[in-house]
Amino acid sequence: MAEVLIVKSQEEAGEIYARAVVTALARNPQLVLGLATGSTPHAAYQALARRVKEDNLDVSRVQGFALDEYVGLDPEHPESYHSVIFREVVEPVGLNPDLIHVPHSDIDTLPHAGADYDAAIEAACGVDIQILGIGTDGHIGFNEPGSSLASPTRMKTLTEQTRLDNARFFNNDVNQVPMHCITQGVGTIMKAKHLVLLAFGKSKAQAVAASIEGPITAMCPASALQMHPHATFIVDEAAASELKQAEYYQWVAHHKPQWQEL
Ligand code: PGA
Repeated sequence: MAEVLIVKSQEEAGEIYARAVVTALARNPQLVLGLATGSTPHAAYQALARRVKEDNLDVSRVQGFALDEYVGLDPEHPESYHSVIFREVVEPVGLNPDLIHVPHSDIDTLPHAGADYDAAIEAACGVDIQILGIGTDGHIGFNEPGSSLASPTRMKTLTEQTRLDNARFFNNDVNQVPMHCITQGVGTIMKAKHLVLLAFGKSKAQAVAASIEGPITAMCPASALQMHPHATFIVDEAAASELKQAEYYQWVAHHKPQWQEL
């Protein structure tokens, strides 16, 4: 099963993520990071930026692949994931912009953009560490409930719930939230070598419990992580509040052997 770490704060989660990246970077300067948007990864990127600065780390050869992008939004729009990834990750961490990929969402290339993106990930020898948030409906990337657990990168239609959840980035106006997106598929995400899913707050508690302790089902795309050989959930106490086995996860974390990495 996935490792489940219950932490006190987003900052603590961010530090754990940053440590995992820094350890992997020391082994492989050409690390391939899977990047997510949304509020959840914010503290993780800040922690990574801090570590890179403090330890004077060379990240010039690190590659990045974003999970998803809206369709119908200009890449220069401040809320396009192209803009968000550059503003919240690439600039603060100091990554090389030429090595950062975001799925192409222009209508002309959309029919083959998914296959092209998966081919680009493969050409980079796959994602080493994929950071993930989770939707209140259990989505990962923009794979809404019902998405095939073997899906490749492709276009999807957002649920009304996701559009409502994301309206806060669009002047609280759901009508401004695009209807369509292109997202790495669940199958694509599952090919990453290490998945680190972060979740904070009570609104994520049900989705977190369903992902970790519920059945593996396309109705909760994050439940696919149960089949991944190296998946880590880092959740705060509110997001962990519906986990039946929470005490056991804390027991496991408390007795984690020192030699065992994240
Ligand atoms: P959030 O979104 O980080 O903004 O809560 C997570 C997600 O939808 O994957």
